[in-house]
Parts: sequence; structure tokens; C-alpha cells
Amino acid sequence: MTAQAPKTNPLKVRNVHFKFDEVPKHWILGSTIATHFINSMHIVFPEGEKFFIRSVRRYAKDMKDKNLVKEINNFCGQEGVHAREHERFWEVMNEQNLQPHRFANFLKKTAFSGKYSYEKVSRNILEKIKPGLGDKFSLSVTTALEHYTAILAHALFLEPIATNDNIAPQMLELLHWHAAEEIEHKALCFDVLKEVDDSYILRVSGMSLATILLFGYITAGQVYFIAVDKDKSIVKMPFETYFLIKTIVFGQIGKELSKNLLSYFRRDFHPNDIDDRHLVDNFFKDKAYA
Ligand SMILES: [Fe+2]
Ligand SMILES: [Fe+2]
Repeated sequence: MTAQAPKTNPLKVRNVHFKFDEVPKHWILGSTIATHFINSMHIVFPEGEKFFIRSVRRYAKDMKDKNLVKEINNFCGQEGVHAREHERFWEVMNEQNLQPHRFANFLKKTAFSGKYSYEKVSRNILEKIKPGLGDKFSLSVTTALEHYTAILAHALFLEPIATNDNIAPQMLELLHWHAAEEIEHKALCFDVLKEVDDSYILRVSGMSLATILLFGYITAGQVYFIAVDKDKSIVKMPFETYFLIKTIVFGQIGKELSKNLLSYFRRDFHPNDIDDRHLVDNFFKDKAYA
């Protein structure tokens, strides 16, 4: 039996503007491999977040619980600020000759807006099978991706290498702020999906596609940025790859991710079963923008 989901505070939209002055090109441990893994997320997140907003907002009018309507608006507000701040970093990447817009256009076209993009094709097919199924599936994929962002956020707060000594401080602040808000709103899409359609099959099928999309595009972006990076050190890259695999797959992040990912497949799972509100409170306690 699932424990009763704990009551959470109302979501708050924090209109934060980060300063990205003097961010070095390889801003995580001086590593090309690690930096471009997260640089890829700077592209994938904003487009993904716009998709989340589209997927959940269309259901606001159907919610019986008026508090959920308010929280959908706040969720969209938080995701909108995340997308904007990650997108602002594209300017820095552009100055570093990483040509982020080329990868962003590829992602936009193939995943969301092109005639044969995932979003268009899957919605068209599913809407023909049953009207409304395409929208429900988009919400299910969003709910699964929100689970990913919440468990990645959880792992980031526990990761010993995520310190100002290893990661450019302004970038670590951006990642931690985003992570805190992902944990804060982790149950919203799940609760909306539950009210729209409580089907277990719908929920887990969204997770399958979410996994392929998320890791497929992040890896594609990482490979693209490594390819266009003229300052990479070919000699250092095998060592950097070994270190990243050791840290992500076999370290704290890998342990936390696998444990929390599997919990999504429990029939009675609810995101608030993972009790990590203290990570959010702890992060925001001394922030002026909290
Ligand atoms: Fe976000
Ligand atoms: Fe989110």
C-alpha cells in the first residue's frame, strides 16, 4: 500500500535571472565529455519544457479540483522560467563557437514541429485510434519525463562532485535552482494524468517513449557538441569518458537513478512517496529569490 501522499506547499514561480559571465568553455571539471553532456541538456530541456506546458495546459479546463488548475498555471510558470534561463545560456555557447541553434533546430524539427516529428506523428496515429488518446499519451510522456527530471534533481543534490570546486559556480547555481523546482513540482503532472485517465498501461507506456526520447536526444546533442568543439583534447577524452561512466553509472547518481526509476513501475506509485522535500527547503533557505 502506498503511504498517503504528503501535503506539499503551493508552487511558487521565481522569476530568476542568472549571470553567465566568464563561464569557461569546459565548465565541469575542465572536461569536454562531461560539459557537453550537460550542454546538450541546455538545448533539450527548453524544448521539452515547452512540450510539457502544451501537454498539461490543455487539461486545465477539465480539472474538477480548482487548486489543481492554479497549480497547473504555476507549474507552467516554473517551466517557462526554466526554459528561458537555459535558452539564455545558448548565447554563451554561441560565443564559444558551439553553434547551439543548429542542434536546437534539429531537435525542434524531429521531435516537435516537423511533419514527421515524434509529437505530430504519435498524436495523429493515436487520435485516429481513439479521439483524445494522442493528448493523453503526450501527458503520459510528460509525466514520465517529469519523473526523470525529479529523480535526476534528487541525485544531483546527493552527488559529491557537484561542488563549486568542480563546476563553475554560476552554472551549479542554475542546475541546483532548476533541480529544486523539479522536486517541488514533481507530482503535478502525475496528479493531472490520474484525474484525466488512471490507466496503468497508459502511464508506463509513456515512460518507454520518454526514456528513448530523453537519452536519445541528450546523447545526440553531446556527440554534436563534441564534434563541433575545436578546443577538445582527443588525448584526454577516453579518461573523461571513463570518469563520467564511473560517476554516473556506478556512482551516487547511477544508484539513486536506478532505485527511483524502478519505483515508477509500481502500480500504487505516487511521486511524493520519495520524500525529498527537505532537499528543496535546504536549497532555498538562504536564497534571496526564494
Ligand atoms: Fe524544468
Ligand atoms: Fe518539471
